[in-house]
Amino acid sequence: MTENTNGTLTPSRPRVLSGMRPTGRLHLGNYMGALYNWVRLQHEYDCYFFIADYHALTTNYANTAGLKEDIREVALDFLSSGLDPEQCTIFIQSHVPQHAELFTLFSMFTPLPWLERVPTYKDQQEQLREKDLNTYGFLGYPLLQSADILLYQPDFVPVGQDQVAHVELTREVARRFNAFYCSQPTPAIERARKDHSDKEIITAELSANTVALGILPEPKVLLTPSPKLPGLDGRKMSKSYDNTIMLSEPEADLRAKLKTMVTDPARIRRTDVGNPDICPVFDLHKVFSTEEKQLEVREGCTTAGIGCIQCKGWLADAIVSEIAPIQERRRALEADPGQVDAILWDGSARARQRAIQTLQHVRQAIGLE
Ligand code: TRP
Ligand code: SF4
Repeated sequence: MTENTNGTLTPSRPRVLSGMRPTGRLHLGNYMGALYNWVRLQHEYDCYFFIADYHALTTNYANTAGLKEDIREVALDFLSSGLDPEQCTIFIQSHVPQHAELFTLFSMFTPLPWLERVPTYKDQQEQLREKDLNTYGFLGYPLLQSADILLYQPDFVPVGQDQVAHVELTREVARRFNAFYCSQPTPAIERARKDHSDKEIITAELSANTVALGILPEPKVLLTPSPKLPGLDGRKMSKSYDNTIMLSEPEADLRAKLKTMVTDPARIRRTDVGNPDICPVFDLHKVFSTEEKQLEVREGCTTAGIGCIQCKGWLADAIVSEIAPIQERRRALEADPGQVDAILWDGSARARQRAIQTLQHVRQAIGLE
């Protein structure tokens, strides 16, 4: 049970934590891949959502001029999408320095190979060849993420498939921490210790006679059902491909951009029939349009009853109706920067309270207190 602000008791809800790197204004792929789900989770779980600005530094350490602005834009997208500071805790990672402290403590006992074999390590280094990612911080990226997570002892971590390996590492780190610092000696070990018999102590300990108390519970992945969103060129929507539609895209720009989007390449003339199943425009219809509209598109496309321009117009209508209320909230927040600051300040203070508690236990367990 937990006490509400108004003093009443409610059963505590399972806890959820997730974070996002501040990459600037979010595009529709970012939105559908995470935020859209977070907004729904906040009503069912005790949610912690944060902007991972330390993580941004692992790849963008050389140029931090835009960082502050990027954090602000992501915060605006969080709030305008419907994350509600009354329902969940929204904060900035570096405003809770306990993330860095727990990361340091974890780094003492985490074997290097655990980090070297995380698939994103080599993948990202290859993808971002223009950057020198041969750094200590970049290797530590997933361990910092483990600290982010274990600091709040969540039951679930909602992430996409690409982050599952990081949550797996988190579980291993928790297990190792618990094994080192939270094991209670069994009576056999106690007896052996009293008798000062090293050999017996070792035998007793080796026979796995320790009971892990598990002060850092292992969190579970809550796999985000993320439809893959194609960008304007048909490849995965991504800032680095410059093929995105922003959540905050003005309607006129959105319509103009969609007009340039690639379609079924075999449908050249208006009189050619098309195949929606290989058309990226239709992939977006599947995410944003109603079932009826999708049927209408399929029918029209496969009989040359509609043209691609009309089809894209319908898609624009559907996307606009999804994001119009978000953009309206964004405008209101943009007009009141003090409100955004206050929300982040408040959320970070709440997060710090939790984080301080966890670190107290952690420090005690390690023997630092
Ligand atoms: N690495 C995550 C991503 O790129 C962001 C992140 C940082 C995160 N810390 C986290 C996600 C903790 C979940 C939990 O998407
Ligand atoms: Fe794609 Fe629509 Fe054109 Fe068919 S009508 S090819 S689904 S854009």
